[in-house]
Amino acid sequence: MHIDEAIRSRRAVKGYDPAFTLSDAEKDELLQLALLAPSAFNLQHVRLVEVSDPAQRQQLREVAWGQAQVTDASMLVVVCAKLDSWQEDVGRVWDGAPAEVQAYMAGAIDTYYRDKPQVQRDETMRSCGLMAQTLMLAARGKGLDSCPMDGFDFDAVAKLIKLPENHVIALMVAVGKKTIEPKPRIGKLPFNEVVLRNSF
Ligand SMILES: Cc1cc2nc3c(=O)[nH]c(=O)nc-3n(C[C@H](O)[C@H](O)[C@H](O)COP(=O)(O)O)c2cc1C
Repeated sequence: MHIDEAIRSRRAVKGYDPAFTLSDAEKDELLQLALLAPSAFNLQHVRLVEVSDPAQRQQLREVAWGQAQVTDASMLVVVCAKLDSWQEDVGRVWDGAPAEVQAYMAGAIDTYYRDKPQVQRDETMRSCGLMAQTLMLAARGKGLDSCPMDGFDFDAVAKLIKLPENHVIALMVAVGKKTIEPKPRIGKLPFNEVVLRNSF
């Protein structure tokens, strides 16, 4: 599928065929594609929790407004991120770069994040959003459907996935085969209200 077609035809799909399954290899291929999403300073803040256990999915559904996507989709991913990624050894993500580049990046990362909790959190949310969309487009490219979700109790989900203290949850993404054709897109704001030229 051409990328334009994948973007145009991606919709937030609510109804999935529970009998349609993806193999572990198919799921991993989608996740590998998602991991190619960009991240600031290449810090790769995101951690993807793929929940395959049906009982756990049911528990998640109970704290996610009962949304059927949570149990019925072939794959459910809780998109999380590590808040203190910026404090880790830069060599792990800049391995292969010249020593002076690594030293420069270490300084730049420290200056950018240190003592700035808002920046630390904002960066994880940017990274999670980009990775979630990459996952959804990768899925669409393979003829699959998806739904981004933040309609859930974040604290309850954190407990169920045993989220470590220094991590945050951004959203969930369900991926599968749709059973219901989405309604035509509605309520798109006028182009000129959303797109501004040079300044507001
Ligand atoms: C951060 C985020 C959270 C969302 N949460 C939910 C959700 O909990 N349940 C749901 O059915 N759709 C959810 N949506 C889907 C939106 O309702 C949907 O993207 C929007 O109405 C536009 O429709 P479209 O994606 O089909 O173009 C969410 C979307 C985003 C980006």
